[in-house]
Amino acid sequence: MIKQEDIQTIIETARIEEVVGDYVSLKKRGINLLGLCPFHNEKTPSFTVSPVKGIFKCFGCGKAGNAVNFIMEHEHFSYPEALRHLAKKYNIELDEELPSPEQIAAFDEKESLFNITAFAHKHFVDSLFNTDEGRAIGLSYFKEREFSDATIKKFELGYTLDKWDEFTQYANKNGYTIQQLEKAGLSTHKEGKSYDRFRARVMFPIHSLSGKVIAFGGRILDADKSKPKYVNSPETDIYNKSKVLYGLNFAKNAISTHDNCFLVEGYTDVITLHQAGIENVVASSGTSLTTEQIKLIYRYTKNITILYDGDPAGIKASFRGIDMILEQGMNVKIVLFPDGEDPDSFTRKNRSAEVLDYLSANALNFILFKTNLLLAETANDPIKRAGLIKEIVSTISLIPDSINRSVYTRECSSLLDIPEQTLIHELNKLARKKLSKAFEAEGQPELPEAVAHVLPKQEDEIETDNAEFQEKDIIRILLNHGDKELLIKAKNQENGEVEVNVTVAFLIINDLTNEDFGFKNEIYQQIFQEFTDRIQEESIPDKTFFTNHENSKIRETAINLMSSPFTLSDNWDKMHHIYVPQEEDSKILEQSVRHSVLSFKLKKTEEVLSLNAKEIKEETEEDNLLILMLKQKTWLDIKKAISAELGRIVIR
Ligand code: CTP
Ligand code: MN
Repeated sequence: MIKQEDIQTIIETARIEEVVGDYVSLKKRGINLLGLCPFHNEKTPSFTVSPVKGIFKCFGCGKAGNAVNFIMEHEHFSYPEALRHLAKKYNIELDEELPSPEQIAAFDEKESLFNITAFAHKHFVDSLFNTDEGRAIGLSYFKEREFSDATIKKFELGYTLDKWDEFTQYANKNGYTIQQLEKAGLSTHKEGKSYDRFRARVMFPIHSLSGKVIAFGGRILDADKSKPKYVNSPETDIYNKSKVLYGLNFAKNAISTHDNCFLVEGYTDVITLHQAGIENVVASSGTSLTTEQIKLIYRYTKNITILYDGDPAGIKASFRGIDMILEQGMNVKIVLFPDGEDPDSFTRKNRSAEVLDYLSANALNFILFKTNLLLAETANDPIKRAGLIKEIVSTISLIPDSINRSVYTRECSSLLDIPEQTLIHELNKLARKKLSKAFEAEGQPELPEAVAHVLPKQEDEIETDNAEFQEKDIIRILLNHGDKELLIKAKNQENGEVEVNVTVAFLIINDLTNEDFGFKNEIYQQIFQEFTDRIQEESIPDKTFFTNHENSKIRETAINLMSSPFTLSDNWDKMHHIYVPQEEDSKILEQSVRHSVLSFKLKKTEEVLSLNAKEIKEETEEDNLLILMLKQKTWLDIKKAISAELGRIVIR
């Protein structure tokens, strides 16, 4: 555990230009520095470092962050790993708490497993290259599969001899006990005797993210159908099958630079694609994908392309797994191969460029793919068709992002030739059901009518999402100028005019909380809430509070919004570039604040109006209708007043 005060010291000491400068050559440009982005391929520099703000941002790929984030991103380090790295660079001594005896024991246990696995691995590689059997059988098999010497070395492939206990004996002689060998899954026990788990197989070592061997897969070479084609290591303290993806250690950098991960089934598919220069590829190794594995990929990209060699039945069986990927908010595409081909054979038959072309030309969006596949099956069968709609809707409902959801609703509606409204209706039913379940779990048997009524409807979400711009602008001003003071006119108790000093944050929050307008964007709402809380304590969050926030989404949002003065490419600046540079001037700032607040209120008022209008259309009870109409009238007046006030602000 790194102590909080040490973290603070590291953040204060680390200079972004020095940290980035270790990896990227930077040139001065104005108060910022510019270089080629290390996170994506580019020829003209769009990677900017701001020493003043302690942040970096790439206008090409959008990556942004502080010094710690840079190290995490570049080295694929966890948060504590990045902190330790920086502490070392700046000679900051960390006062980490000492591990407990249990932790030490667990650590020793793991160390000994790593050790014995490395020992075995070395022996398997040795058997491949330095025994007659290894060369004649193992090596010639790899050659037959067209693995180059470099590939065999890179993937650290090996071979186990066709003997009962050759390795067990050898390890034993080298001081490893039978218990240790069994614990590591290298030897098995049968009728009082110990045998090698892997015999007469070519060996594929499985690596941890940092490249240590943690397990093996061994492929049989003869065609004996009674024996399993692959024997794999059992789970151990260092090998948790569901948390490992084969090849990820080799693929991680390519996955982030290409912002996509190819997912294949087998070891050999990974290796052949790699050899062809397609390195952003991992395998689930025969098992179905787990949430943990998906989260591993998510660290590097939000895009997964699954390469299938199976028949439709096999593909259908994997639909569950794919739903899990969608649920994580990732985009899934599917590539099918010509009959009888798998990624491995296809890659060997074609040149790399052709393979890449094929992959990009044949990548089908998963939801549309699934819809088409099921559609073909249910042609002219109305009962099956009803099931199909439910199935598709349940998949769409898993997508966390409402905009994405509505895109798919629209596309599927045209594919299925069903009105969009019908799908939306089904989606809402599902949402209600989920909510009811949640209520039930809390001991409340039914969804209260009041709650059911205000449930967001899919249609509203689509229309109201465009307040995003106004929401963003308010948060941008809060973050950049919240602490600045403005001299404004106010009324005193006798209704006379006085001039008072208030902060920008106070002005905005006071205005908006009076009306109770919320932010649709959750992150903005959270930032706004933190500001509100502070204002109530009569303080204002310090500038680095949000850029170092523990919530990574808040941190990223803050960094992005705070880097806008040097983002000419940003949408916001395109529309407002006339006064961005002058916002430092307090008169202009005040106008800018008022303008943003009014625009925000106008947008929110329009939202209320359109929602209410919809209710008026649907309402049949006369009394209720009257109330709704009165409400509409009131809000129309409010809208008029806001528009008039907005019109009075002249911005130069
Ligand atoms: N697998 C396994 N046990 C088996 C068969 C398969 O663990 N009996 C796993 C392996 O991880 C394998 C993957 O499922 O890599 C895909 O299986 P398959 O396509 O049969 O294997 P490949 O590795 O492609 O082997 P090859 O091309 O040599 O047949
Ligand atoms: Mn294969």
